[in-house]
Amino acid sequence: MTQYRALLAELADDAVATRIELREPAALEPGHLRIAVEFSGVNFKDALALTPGGGVVRQYPIVPGIDIAGTVLESASDEFAAGDRVVAHGYEIGTARDGGYAEQAVVPAEWAVKLTALSTREAAAIGTAGFTAAMSVAAIVDAGVVPADGPVVVTGATGGVGSTAIDLLASLGYEVVASSGKPGATDHLHALGAHEVIGRLPLDPDAKPRPLGRSRWAAAVDCVGGAALADVISTLNYGGVVAASGLTGGAGLKTTVMPFILRGVTLAGIDSVQMPIAPRRALWARIESDLRPRHLDLVANDIGIDGVRVVVDALRAGEYTGRAVVDLSRGW
Ligand SMILES: NC(=O)c1ccc[n+]([C@@H]2O[C@H](COP(=O)([O-])OP(=O)(O)OC[C@H]3O[C@@H](n4cnc5c(N)ncnc54)[C@H](OP(=O)(O)O)[C@@H]3O)[C@@H](O)[C@H]2O)c1
Repeated sequence: MTQYRALLAELADDAVATRIELREPAALEPGHLRIAVEFSGVNFKDALALTPGGGVVRQYPIVPGIDIAGTVLESASDEFAAGDRVVAHGYEIGTARDGGYAEQAVVPAEWAVKLTALSTREAAAIGTAGFTAAMSVAAIVDAGVVPADGPVVVTGATGGVGSTAIDLLASLGYEVVASSGKPGATDHLHALGAHEVIGRLPLDPDAKPRPLGRSRWAAAVDCVGGAALADVISTLNYGGVVAASGLTGGAGLKTTVMPFILRGVTLAGIDSVQMPIAPRRALWARIESDLRPRHLDLVANDIGIDGVRVVVDALRAGEYTGRAVVDLSRGW
């Protein structure tokens, strides 16, 4: 068995340091897959894994990378065979067991999804963030919101979740309003399918929050949380739904029951991490067909393993646009 390279993160004083380690593959346990990792991504959670006190890694040292896309090298499961193209994300990947920033990864077969139409690069460009966007869009569609109901706002619009959500909603015919803190990204957001681009919510951060504001949105995809989510909840139309997945703007949520009891709005929680494998595989099958993003090439930025830290710094500062796709064949 050939040795492989891995990016190892370990705690050093008050920092998370990284170094390249040459590893010997261990014997494969029953029910597991050995994957030749071709691509990973850099999600907000990966940035937290490389931040001291980030709160997502159970124990260092660890190989970060919550997304794995590659080809099965060896299978100890009847469900998969060597040569299958797979994507795996969520559960403990990159947080409690080694993840995608390595040339090889071992995961339980019951965490893996077989790819049929997408390439491994496309699957990594979608990754956890794009999958979460697809979950959010599916929640809005399943709640019965249709394009004729009115605009759908997407917060954190230039990020991984936000950009894929815009792409998917626009291709389903919704009028998308992108909320972003990056004025320079307006043309990019229109190219993804946004009808209108506005600033971060609330538009007036100094105004006193009101239990109910003017109704504006039939639905919302929110990955920002905090004051943005509170603002969205208070401005949803009657019967509107917000799919809430993130906290880049804060984990707190100051709201009242008013939007819920006077406008019948729904706060739909989105969790991609513990989502069971059967619905996970079913949603990936939709991502390969009717929920396939149309503008991955506008969103994906290819980097080598040596580019991860730079992207992490930009993500932490809220300054990154799109999705970094880590090509495991380069940058060591
Ligand atoms: N629940 C789940 O299963 C799940 C899955 C994936 C991600 N998430 C969460 O969803 C969030 C987004 O993930 P991601 O990978 O898309 O991250 P990302 O690529 O960093 O995008 C987040 C976006 O949020 C906006 N933002 C950043 N800092 C902000 C701040 N201080 N205040 C307001 N807006 C800010 C920025 O967009 P603009 O500059 O355009 O405003 C940024 O591009 C994260 O909190 C992540 O942990 C959750």
